[in-house]
Amino acid sequence: MQQHTSIRDLRSHLARERQAGRTIGVVPTMGALHAGHEALIREARAANDVVVVSIFVNPTQFGDAQDLAHYPRTLEKDLALCEAAGADHVFLPDVAEMYGAGEQTKITVSPLGEDLIGTLRPGHFTGVATVVAKLLNIVQPSRAYFGRKDFQQLTIIRRMVADLFIPVEIVGVATVRDADGLALSSRNARLSERERAASVVLSQALFKGAAMIEAGETSLQAVAESMRRRIEAEPLADLRSLDIREAATLGELTTIGSQALVILVTAQIGPVLLIDQREAVP
Ligand code: PAJ
Repeated sequence: MQQHTSIRDLRSHLARERQAGRTIGVVPTMGALHAGHEALIREARAANDVVVVSIFVNPTQFGDAQDLAHYPRTLEKDLALCEAAGADHVFLPDVAEMYGAGEQTKITVSPLGEDLIGTLRPGHFTGVATVVAKLLNIVQPSRAYFGRKDFQQLTIIRRMVADLFIPVEIVGVATVRDADGLALSSRNARLSERERAASVVLSQALFKGAAMIEAGETSLQAVAESMRRRIEAEPLADLRSLDIREAATLGELTTIGSQALVILVTAQIGPVLLIDQREAVP
């Protein structure tokens, strides 16, 4: 496995791979890697000749300087995980490498990026879309891998790639969960023991909501109400948003029909804004 800190160095290696006709899969990450990231790397490994993992804590997607300062950094462990999961190249740029002097270009996917989590984190998805566009242009992969856990992020990236005619296949990978159901996240490490125990209500409520839809419930309000009650029963969980949307576009719904749906939940528990989702087909 090779490490690269410069765009020029990574590109010269990848140009040779591409010339030899090899397919390239990229997994963009912010490090603090866990089994969720590992699932993306393994899926990339299975479908591509060359696997690139980027590790870059992207400052432009953080609204809160404290959140950025507290973002976990575990480089040695991350490199070991990348190697074990089969990465060929790890790209480790610094901020100056990704955001050069005089930089002016931003990518805003609107209105989708201002909806849902975008209302809680203004500007967040502009930071995400901009850095992902940079990474796709640097690596020029055949495929890029993203978790379904961050469903709105995945939808925004699909939209951006379609709108800008970026020639890459976007692959959405199923959420990896702890044994009790909590979606793995780098931020979970900041939960106290009590907060960690409380956070299970999110996945419990999501499984319940999805089960109601799959069992034929047609009222959006009934599903949302039942989930809200479940989460609000946990005093440490501060429910911030609960939305049931069309899975393909994240468009709003008035009733549950026959289209695939996604339930999106965010809740503040202690210092962490937890994000989870569950797809359901009525
Ligand atoms: P990060 O939070 O490090 O996540 C990197 C990728 O791993 C994302 O596509 C995310 O959806 C996926 N992921 C995280 N937890 C997961 C889990 N439990 N199961 C499956 N996949 C999971 O998301 C970002 O970084 C950044 O916004 C990024 C796309 C790298 C742009 O900076």
